[in-house]
Amino acid sequence: MDAEKRIAELKEKINQYDYEYHVLDDPTISDVEYDKLLNELTQLEEDHPQYKRDDSPTQRVGGKVLDGFTKVEHSIPMMSLANAFDESDLRAFDERVRKYVDDYSYVVEAKVDGLAASLIYEEGKLVRAATRGNGQVGEDITHNARTIKSVPLSLNKAVSLEVRGEIFMNRAAFMALNEKRAKAEEPLFKNPRNAAAGSVRQLDSKIAASRSLDMFIYSLVERDDEVTMTQSETIDYLKDLGFKTNPYQCFDSIDEVVEASIAIEKNRHDYKYEIDGAVVKVNQKPLYKTIGYTAKSPKWAIAYKFKAEEVATTINAIKYQVGRTGQITPVAVLEPVEIQGSTVSRATLHNDRYILDKDIRVGDDVLIRKAGDIIPEVVAVIEERRDMQEPFTMISHCPKCDTPLKRTESKADLYCDNPSCPAKKVEALIHFASRKAMNIEGLGNRIIELFYNEGYLQDIRDIYTLQEHKDVLVTRAGFGQKSIEKLLKHIESSKSNSAELLLFGLGIRYVGEKVSRVLAMHYGSLFDMIECKIEDLRAIDEVGDKIAQSVEAYFSNEENIALLRDLHDQGVNMKYKGHVNQSGIFTDKTIVLTGKLEHFTRDEARERIEAEGGKVTSSVSKKTDFVLAGEDAGSKLTKAQELGVDVLTEEDFINRLESK
Ligand code: IVH
Repeated sequence: MDAEKRIAELKEKINQYDYEYHVLDDPTISDVEYDKLLNELTQLEEDHPQYKRDDSPTQRVGGKVLDGFTKVEHSIPMMSLANAFDESDLRAFDERVRKYVDDYSYVVEAKVDGLAASLIYEEGKLVRAATRGNGQVGEDITHNARTIKSVPLSLNKAVSLEVRGEIFMNRAAFMALNEKRAKAEEPLFKNPRNAAAGSVRQLDSKIAASRSLDMFIYSLVERDDEVTMTQSETIDYLKDLGFKTNPYQCFDSIDEVVEASIAIEKNRHDYKYEIDGAVVKVNQKPLYKTIGYTAKSPKWAIAYKFKAEEVATTINAIKYQVGRTGQITPVAVLEPVEIQGSTVSRATLHNDRYILDKDIRVGDDVLIRKAGDIIPEVVAVIEERRDMQEPFTMISHCPKCDTPLKRTESKADLYCDNPSCPAKKVEALIHFASRKAMNIEGLGNRIIELFYNEGYLQDIRDIYTLQEHKDVLVTRAGFGQKSIEKLLKHIESSKSNSAELLLFGLGIRYVGEKVSRVLAMHYGSLFDMIECKIEDLRAIDEVGDKIAQSVEAYFSNEENIALLRDLHDQGVNMKYKGHVNQSGIFTDKTIVLTGKLEHFTRDEARERIEAEGGKVTSSVSKKTDFVLAGEDAGSKLTKAQELGVDVLTEEDFINRLESK
């Protein structure tokens, strides 16, 4: 079959699978099969760029980086909705509607908590996406909207239209994102709404692409004197075009609307995404013109807003957690209360500034709520109930090792800088063994704490000498011979993990899972990172200043190098094994790029080299196998010639790639 046909066929298939997975929530093939097709399409498009189109599913991975956001004027303003806070507000709304019209019914939809956006299609192709902005003028977010899998890049019909809806992040994606950020010591998003908004307002679309955003469409933009369909017919029509639409229910009377709205509130936690209300709309769109608008909102719709679930309880104590990096987090120990289906007995107080700003004191009655429905948080002190509670004072010394605490540069947090603080050491061990790091099954928090307290585990090295204590360990209550043997087996097999897991496990500040992979892939071996320089690190995609500084500092510390050498002596693998092609044309070769290439960007050339098993480094040395020199190559080329390193021209490079 020729490439053009196969590309068209793959595009259609993948679009259908994307639709089933992301819109219908009903996948029909496995991830592996899906990836195979996507890889085939990516390869074909790479080999035959003349058939690559903007609406190809391969174009959802992001990559476009903007200098700034362009303003977009909305053809028809994006209004907001008036709010109803209880049943009587809903009935009053119905009374107002009845003043204008008498033969009508209602549609009730869940109010998804995300951010409003508009999508414009021309002849069935997505051409523009914009945020609501101030309602009149928003920002162009086309590059990011294209990465949202439930947003069709092309519709089932070649129609030109504008639709509006809500971009959001479901709870699971939000939790996974925050978990990742916590590991990378990045600030957490407070709730899925902020996470979605933060992702959409990124200039680099790779970020949005990595964030599992989603979008429900709830309206078709039409002039009120042009409409013919009802709202429910409109939603069905949009669904047929391929959009993911908000589920709706139709009702004839306000009584049923009230009942349905309250039912949605009651069941709000059954949704996979956060909803903050129910939207009630008159179904007959041809009546909208008659019912009319206020300056800000339509009079034919209203948002029934849920009550925020806040619960009163007492702060029994304030305790302090010492994190892996020494950061001190005050935590409120609460009189246990039920909130949104679970019992809460602790709430984060973030830092001392937060406590002082809210004037929170031990013994206070406070209102708590689940921030973003997930992490419990103290909202406010109930001051009327305050007795003689002492004002809060922050600890000045580490609760575990008594070292005087220091302030971080931002002054927000306090931390313990004692490298042998037991709390930090235990946390570091827990992190090292955790699932996303070295993944040592059986070495969880409890055992680590116990072995730490008993002296078997003091630092990471001791994990790999635990077998020396096997005879004593098996006699301990609670551990049978079998479980210890299993644990030792898991420890042994962790030695052959690929280097990115070890790198992540070392717990270097700002080096999360993804950066670890990027660095391990780039350097090939942790030993090759010892000499890393800030400038070289910064030249790597994904590595910013903070990360570069932190990595350089880590690898210029003698103790850390000694740790790596000891681990290596104990048999722990230091090399990146990930996807290195062991039989590529550049396997085991180190290549330096210099000058301007005509047919490739730097990144593309690097990708091709890595795909062929090679490694790209930034400075020329005797260890360099080739220098790939483009136009205007400068000092690196001279150095290669001085050292006698082979120099490849772009033509040589292409010939080698093609000869394989
Ligand atoms: S209809 C005139 N339907 O709620 C505005 N809005 O202020 C018509 N929202 O910013 C909006 N779910 O982004 C509508 N099913 C839904 C919605 C919904 C969420 C958001 C919308 C708007 C806000 C209302």
